[in-house]
Amino acid sequence: MSFANLIKSRRSTRNFIDRPVEVEKIEALTKALLYSPTGKRKNHWDFLFIEDKVMLLTLSECKPHGANLIEGAALAIVVVGDSVQSDTWIEDCSIASIILQLQAEELALGSCWVQIHKRPHNNEKTAEDFVKEQLNIPRSKNVLSLIAIGYPAKKRAPIDESELLYHKIHKGKY
Ligand SMILES: Cc1cc2nc3c(=O)[nH]c(=O)nc-3n(C[C@H](O)[C@H](O)[C@H](O)COP(=O)(O)O)c2cc1C
Repeated sequence: MSFANLIKSRRSTRNFIDRPVEVEKIEALTKALLYSPTGKRKNHWDFLFIEDKVMLLTLSECKPHGANLIEGAALAIVVVGDSVQSDTWIEDCSIASIILQLQAEELALGSCWVQIHKRPHNNEKTAEDFVKEQLNIPRSKNVLSLIAIGYPAKKRAPIDESELLYHKIHKGKY
């Protein structure tokens, strides 16, 4: 698939069929993450691959809205940064997250970004702390996102070109 078609066909997938992701595809996803660029090539990120069904269910409860879909995914990849070591941790983790989603798309897998950073678990705890506790992630680290991956129950249509916000493109000054 051309890159232009890849970025068009990627849509958030929130419903998955019950089918594991093959080892070769997990390997390709791994490489996509590790090829992702980081500021000053510091590579202060970590990625946790979760396939255990019980843990996927637990992680689906990390925040009250927008995380239920994790339960039905075959795989969740938790994207962890380090704000102590890198002042570009959000950018580094965001780039890795979207590259992962595009690689998943090329492999005919569906994916959805689940935002963890700055989201509450409940009144007392952040979603980030909840995820860190469940997965033994050191307190000093930061969790930006969790990317849920699996075979889509239904392929969503690309956004129609007529809906693109061309008025957001400015030629020259704002
Ligand atoms: C930074 C970011 C955070 C997101 N967080 C969530 C989330 O927590 N839960 C969710 O279901 N979707 C989440 N999404 C997916 C967006 O809702 C989705 O990308 C957007 O509605 C556009 O739809 P599309 O991905 O199908 O093109 C997030 C996307 C981004 C880029």
